[in-house]
Amino acid sequence: MTEELKKLQTDFAAALENITTQEALKELESEYLGKKGKLKAILSGVKDLSIEDKKTVGVAANQLKNECIAAIAQKTQELEDSYFSEIEDKEAIDVTIGYPSENLGHKHPISHASELLEDIFISLGFKIEDGPQIEDETHNFDMLNIPDNHPARDVWDTFWISDEINKERKPGDKYLLRTHTSPVQIRTMLREELPIKIIVPGRVFRYEQEDARHTCNFYQLEGLVVGEGVTFGDLKWTLDTVMKQLLGEKTQLRFRPSIFPFTEPSAEVDVSCQICNGSGETKGKKCSMCSGTGWVELLGAGMVHPKVLEGCGIDPMKYSGFAFGMGIDRIAAQRFGVSSSKMFYQNKLKLNEQF
Ligand code: DAH
Repeated sequence: MTEELKKLQTDFAAALENITTQEALKELESEYLGKKGKLKAILSGVKDLSIEDKKTVGVAANQLKNECIAAIAQKTQELEDSYFSEIEDKEAIDVTIGYPSENLGHKHPISHASELLEDIFISLGFKIEDGPQIEDETHNFDMLNIPDNHPARDVWDTFWISDEINKERKPGDKYLLRTHTSPVQIRTMLREELPIKIIVPGRVFRYEQEDARHTCNFYQLEGLVVGEGVTFGDLKWTLDTVMKQLLGEKTQLRFRPSIFPFTEPSAEVDVSCQICNGSGETKGKKCSMCSGTGWVELLGAGMVHPKVLEGCGIDPMKYSGFAFGMGIDRIAAQRFGVSSSKMFYQNKLKLNEQF
């Protein structure tokens, strides 16, 4: 082999050694084996050599060419293998790895109770509606037959939104944090065709003195059914069925006459206290959930007032409806055996971890 070929051979081997990418390998290939490559130059010069040299140089150059081709093929394979094994290492999933030991948490009891109620109502054919938490006075009060200056407004201690914040609103509009989910009744009746059969779970706000049963924000679940021939009997059956499913077959309901401006007749509905089993006592003490009465007030209900129907363009001579509004917090307390629904807002893990 000539000196030149030997040098070419060692140069090639050294260069190949340092190659780590397919691109660099391609460059090396064309540098040595390409049309204008170093070996090509030698091979094409062979024809000008003497017969003797032709034999030795020609054979040696061809041999070197074949060696180079084989070496490049091998290197290509090596690079490919290491590329895939790198990916395998990087993307490997260790199936033996354990779950993180931290507690991932779970639903808040109020969300849980709300979802249980939603499931029951959906099974009875109700649809879920939603509405804004920042509500206007018209939907929250006026259209529910609670006009300005009417004493009934005192029942709903209201967080009014100051006009300072309210600058962008239309003049004359007064905004507030909704005091109940009832305004969604109005929004639905104005928008939907009859018959209507909806529930509205959601957050409401009261400017209120806090005690064992009251917090300044809580959750309600509103219900509304409007159509032809809807009766108070339908209301009673619906609430009885739902409460028995949620709290157990033994659950008793008590309807007391009441007054709500948006229903006529109206009732307040109590459920036998699940904390003290209706006895009024827990561990020899007055039950704090029901104040020792054995009953917990869960909801207000009634037949939708004709004025409310009329205000939404529904003929009260032809159609009727029932409505109810229940406190989800209290229902959660009853369902999970917590003596004060206020505890749900105290973020005490000791309480929440029990569910
Ligand atoms: N909105 C009432 C409240 O927050 C509850 C209520 C009572 C809702 C009677 C109703 C109803 O739909 O018919 O106190």
